[in-house]
Formats: sequence, structure tokens, C-alpha cells
Amino acid sequence: MRQAIARLPGSMIREVANAGLGRSDVLAFWFGESDEVTATPVREAAAASLMRGETFYSHNLGLAELRAALRDYTAALHGDPGDDRIVVTSAGVNGLMLAMQLLVDPGDEVLVVAPVWPNLPSQPLILGGVVKRAALRPDAQGAWRLDLQALLASITPATRVLLVNAPNNPTGWTLTRAEQQAILEHCRRTGTWIVADEVYERVWFGPEACAPSFLDIADAADRLIVVHSFSKSFLMTGWRLGWLVLPRGHLDAIGTLIEFNTSCAPVFAQRGALAALASAGESVAPLVAHWRACRDTLCDALAPLPGVLVARPPGGLYAFLQLEGGTDSLGLAKRLVNEHGLGLAPGVAFGPEGEGWLRWCFASRDAGRLLDGVARLRHALGL
Ligand SMILES: Cc1ncc(COP(=O)(O)O)c(C=O)c1O
Repeated sequence: MRQAIARLPGSMIREVANAGLGRSDVLAFWFGESDEVTATPVREAAAASLMRGETFYSHNLGLAELRAALRDYTAALHGDPGDDRIVVTSAGVNGLMLAMQLLVDPGDEVLVVAPVWPNLPSQPLILGGVVKRAALRPDAQGAWRLDLQALLASITPATRVLLVNAPNNPTGWTLTRAEQQAILEHCRRTGTWIVADEVYERVWFGPEACAPSFLDIADAADRLIVVHSFSKSFLMTGWRLGWLVLPRGHLDAIGTLIEFNTSCAPVFAQRGALAALASAGESVAPLVAHWRACRDTLCDALAPLPGVLVARPPGGLYAFLQLEGGTDSLGLAKRLVNEHGLGLAPGVAFGPEGEGWLRWCFASRDAGRLLDGVARLRHALGL
């Protein structure tokens, strides 16, 4: 086995979840998905495709109809990206890996804004990249902040890729437009690629339709790859479908990589995705409004608890909370599952910056479940 693989840490979210899977008494909030099934018309479109016999290999880059629909969807949110910039991937995680395979040679430096979903820094490690971390820090209210000047100072001509996920999993932290502008201008000077994981862009609780995106300010020649997914705002985690927005001129190379990774995304899943995009105008806003209510229910119940620090995240699916004196979030998360039937993700799973914190996914059909979970936490804390 290659050293890079032997050294890869396993997922600590899985480590906790495995302790509780199969136990019907556990209230699980550890994974980043809703307990709500994909909308009926989306499932029907995929089922109809299967019944028509669409069971064959397809184009590396995705169905032309889906790529056209994604261009329209992108245009409505961020302005027209132009021809030949969008490619369908086998979900966000595959899109991230394709971007890394396109850009990272062994020894290349990748700077990751953290804490962050562990898959982001793991992928360049698999390829032999050298991963550095730029830390977000919590303020006194528990909201996470970027030190922009420190980040810019750590992006040098030796930085091949800046990997940034905003809205961020697990903290909910989001880049402002001014920060994006400063980062883009700096990376233009250093020749650094920006890989922007914007899979939570629609899971945004501000008045706008989505969080600020690098696509709003970059042009088609910028070294920018934006990673998207159908998983979150279309309730399609199990479909394994996403897309990339690339700079002009990179489609052939990505198509070649897709050929050697997955060859193509399943056609029936892409038919479902077309139906999801067709109804996005009516489906996304009510879903996000519901998640906003879930966020408020959870944060309002957690915030008054003594020894608990939590801020209302502006985007994403998670409350990130700190328990006073907590230094071993993995041990704590295991105790919460084993002794109290409460399934949360340990903050250290998202890097050392998250140690002492816990991540709670609030995307639940039934907000009452969240309150049952808070009752278990209170019991665990002796409150
Ligand atoms: C930050 C981030 N990026 C990407 C993904 C990938 O999602 P998927 O592979 O389901 O599209 C996730 C999933 O949790 C995530 O949290």
C-alpha cells in the first residue's frame, strides 16, 4: 500500500456512528442529510427513465440536456457562465476529487480553510499533495471568523490550490463578497487555483437566494473551479450527482479524468436531476425556510443551556456547539451515543481546530426530534 494511503485517518464521524447504527433508541444527527425522501416527481422521472430502458453508458461530461439546464440554473443565480464550462459529476465528493486530480501533483501545496468536512483535505493527501491549514476561529459568541490578512499572507506563489468550503461544514461560516474579492485578486497575483466547495450555497438563511459565490465575481479565464451537488438542496444524497463549473478550456481534460474514474454518471439519475432543476423554483425556498425553522428551534433550545456555546449559523445544515471544558470531542460523542442515545459528530473529525466542539445536523422533517435530542443532552449534562 502507498504510504499516503496507509497514513490516511479514517472518518471519526463514522467511528461514532458505527457505535450506534442499528440501535433504534438512538436519535442520530451525525450525518449531513435530511431524513426527508427525494420529491416524488424527481423519483418518478428516474423510474420512468429506467422503465424506458436507459440503462447504458453515457457521455463522459453528462447528458447535454442536463448540462444545458445547469447552465440556465447557474445563469439565474450568478449570470451566464458561457459555453463549455459545466460538467456533471458523480456527486460533490467526486467533483472535488476530479478537481484535485486535475491540479495537484505530488508535493504540491494545497491550503485548506478549516475546520472543514474531512474529505476535502484527505483527497489531495491521497494524491501526494502537501496540505496546509488556514484556521477559522470562534468569537466569544461561538460564531466562526476568518482572519483574512492571515489567510492572504499564507497564500504564496508556492500555493497550488486554495480549497475553501463556504457556507462551511461544520461551522456555517460563510465568505463575504469583500473577502471573496480580496482572495480572488490575491490568487490572481500568486497564480493559485481556487477550488470553491459551494455545495451549501442554497442552504442560506439570508434574504438572498443563495450565499455569495465566487462565480459572481470571477471571469471564465480565472483559475477557479466551483463544486456543486444535488445532495443537499434537492434532497438527493443517495443519488450521487453533482456538477463542476470550470474555467474555459478544461472540459476535455476533465472528460478524460471522468472516463478513468467513473466514465459517466448514471442516466436515470440525471433524468431525476433534470426534474429536480425544473421544479427548483418552487422546491428550494420552502425547504430552506423549513431548515431555517429547524435551525432556530435547535439554537433557541441550546443557547440558554449553561456551559453551552452556540451561534446561529448563517448557512449550511449544522449547529456547531462547544461544551465548556470539553477537550475530547470524540470520547464525548461516543459517550453521548452509548449512554444517552444521542448521535452527534465530534468536532475533531473536522480537524484540530474543531476539538472540543460537536456538530449537530438540524435538517429534520420533524423539529420535535431536535427538541428530544436537546432533552437528552440536558440529561447528559445533568441540567
Ligand atoms: C462541504 C461538503 N462538500 C461536499 C460534500 C459532498 O456531498 P455529495 O458527495 O453528497 O455531493 C459534502 C457532503 O456532506 C460536504 O459537506
